[in-house]
Amino acid sequence: MHEQLILQAKIAKGDFMRGGEASSNLKEILRKLGIRSDISRRITIVMYELEMNIVIHSLGGEVAVYISSDQVKVVATDAGPGIEDVEKAFQPGYSTADDAVREMGFGAGMGLNNVKHFSDELEVETGKGQGTSITAVVYL
Ligand SMILES: Nc1ncnc2c1ncn2[C@@H]1O[C@H](COP(=O)(O)OP(=O)(O)OP(=O)(O)O)[C@@H](O)[C@H]1O
Ligand SMILES: [Mg+2]
Repeated sequence: MHEQLILQAKIAKGDFMRGGEASSNLKEILRKLGIRSDISRRITIVMYELEMNIVIHSLGGEVAVYISSDQVKVVATDAGPGIEDVEKAFQPGYSTADDAVREMGFGAGMGLNNVKHFSDELEVETGKGQGTSITAVVYL
């Protein structure tokens, strides 16, 4: 089976109301596709963290999810401002979230660490002043 798009969603900067919507929609789609629940859980966590990072840290972007016979691929792309030090961003506890965001329960600096933990393949394209594109693959 070649790759098929199963979900695509625009993610707006600062939209905490709808933040997480794409990942809950994905969870339901994966359930309907009969994906094992432990695998679905990993994919959904990856999607949630990438989606919320676009809401919190970016100027806005989109997520797209593709399935093939052996994997699910989440692609999260945004319009900037980019990540200056990727290695640092993946360190547990590192966050640039401000107090308002922390009061909403985000900004523990664990998101990207979780993305790495739950992905089988991970690719990050970014840079200061550029957009960020993160591709995470989970094997079925
Ligand atoms: N799409 C992005 N654009 C720009 N910077 C980002 C993006 N995603 C992550 N970052 C940067 O990397 C840091 C670490 O991200 P990570 O998701 O690990 O933690 P967090 O979002 O700050 O907190 P948490 O995910 O635990 O709520 C962020 O604080 C931010 O500085
Ligand atoms: Mg995060």
